[in-house]
Amino acid sequence: MSLTIGVPRETFAGEKRVATVPEVVEKLVKLGFAVVVESGAGAAASFGDEAYQAAGARLAGSAGELYAASDIVFKVRPPSEAEVAQLRPGTTLVGFIWPAQNPGLMQQLAGRRATVLAIDCLPRQLSRAQKMDALTSTAGVSGYRAVIEAAHAFGRPFNGSVTAAGKIPPAKVFIAGAGVAGLAAIGAAANLGAIVRANDTRAEVADQVVSLGGEFVKVDYEEEGSGGGGYAKVMSEGFQAAQREMYAKQAREVDIIITTALIPGKPAPRLITAEMVRSMKSGSVIVDMAAEQGGNCELTVPGEAVVRHGVTLIGYTDLPSRLARQASTLYSTNLLRLTEELCKAKDGRIDVNFDDDAIRGLTVIKEGEVTWPAPPLKLPAPPAAKPAPAVAAAPAAKKSGGHGHGGASEPASVQSLALVFGFGAALFWLVGAYAPAAFLGHFTVFVLACFVGYQVVWNVTPSLHTPLMSVTNAISSIIAVGALVQVAPPLADGGAGRPSALILGLAVVALALTAVNMFGGFAVTRRMLAMFRK
Ligand code: NAI
Repeated sequence: MSLTIGVPRETFAGEKRVATVPEVVEKLVKLGFAVVVESGAGAAASFGDEAYQAAGARLAGSAGELYAASDIVFKVRPPSEAEVAQLRPGTTLVGFIWPAQNPGLMQQLAGRRATVLAIDCLPRQLSRAQKMDALTSTAGVSGYRAVIEAAHAFGRPFNGSVTAAGKIPPAKVFIAGAGVAGLAAIGAAANLGAIVRANDTRAEVADQVVSLGGEFVKVDYEEEGSGGGGYAKVMSEGFQAAQREMYAKQAREVDIIITTALIPGKPAPRLITAEMVRSMKSGSVIVDMAAEQGGNCELTVPGEAVVRHGVTLIGYTDLPSRLARQASTLYSTNLLRLTEELCKAKDGRIDVNFDDDAIRGLTVIKEGEVTWPAPPLKLPAPPAAKPAPAVAAAPAAKKSGGHGHGGASEPASVQSLALVFGFGAALFWLVGAYAPAAFLGHFTVFVLACFVGYQVVWNVTPSLHTPLMSVTNAISSIIAVGALVQVAPPLADGGAGRPSALILGLAVVALALTAVNMFGGFAVTRRMLAMFRK
């Protein structure tokens, strides 16, 4: 018998999102599920009851009726005590749970013998999990909205211009923390024409900041900021002091600060002091996206916009709800992808398979038994860092090797390279001594082609290998020249060398196929390269 998925109206104050949108209802029905939606569940996100009915859902008049009919419940916010009490024993609950922050809720859910899939516990490092990554889709929407809130509170346009009435300088925006939300904010602010700067403790995001139109501002202190899994760690006192100094300088210069800095399982780092707020120009704006986790700014009031020292401090904790329609659509698509993983047979039933790392990671309670936290993922170990002296010695050794002065301290790689070259030279001499003269010429071209081709491919960034393959594929269409020669033999021999009909036919086919290969190769390359351009 197929299961029923229930979508209740969110009861958390100010929450406008809904866990499933009509478009996704249709797809869930195709997977074999029955869907029941509480009347009015999508109203705040502009999805009416009729749209749900048209998509194949049944309406429930009340929450009680909905929970009584549901085998699986899709939610956005963690359920309240009253909502947990309405869950039928054995129900599967899918939504944000935050088990570390909500131990009481975990106990209550376990008491209902529920199976709980916490979308916030998804192992995001798995590339397979990206389609289910609701944290990323939510953060992207929030980062964009933070910029819009800042623009709304700021008394000037973001883009600079010169008009007859005077000059408008471009707004300067500083983004603290360039994770998913921070990067979305950088892109949005840069698109509005602002000068954007950003900082993060994880140095690896610097390129991403630049690619979105921002400038990465470094802290003048050497310390690795990655705490594993793509997340940050708490930095040393020395780093924090240097960072405060840099942030204080930025606060004096910029008009808008958007803070997004978070460290998993820790309170949000305090980055903007009251003193920094005081130093900002009157009319400036701070949007503190970490307000719910304690705030990155000392003066933030969570959930509110307040003015302190002439600066508007926005601590809204409902940024995704302020774009409820889009946030709901993305979230509900994440849940659909998860459902597809749970229901591979498309028979309206789910299998919470613990052999699947993604499913294991987000299952925090299984049939009443707490299974959180999941055992750490067995990811392939990152490549070991090369010992510094060997790296430093390699270029020098390469040079001396080239002149035939390789010493005993040469790295093994240089020795093996010399061995390969020695062996190659001997082989070449052997071929030269015994093979026919014509063969030697072809063989030389072949060896050189291999060498040049290898060097070319080796020096291209791996992400560009696919467009490279297609362009080399197009170039390999040199075969067209051979086919042309066959179709139209040289005039000099007076037509004596006219090919047979068979050869002519083959040549024409070769020409046609090569043309497809050639033009197709270039067209595909162009499209692929366009994906790398902004
Ligand atoms: P987050 O919301 O936990 O943190 C936001 C940002 O604040 C992070 O970039 C963090 O480095 C930064 N931050 C923390 N402390 C700071 C401090 N004292 N000063 C300045 N910045 C500070 O992180 P989010 O946005 O959820 O994800 C962070 C990263 O995780 C992403 O940028 C990505 O690289 C990685 N990630 C990887 C995924 C994957 O491997 N498939 C999927 C999703 C995220």
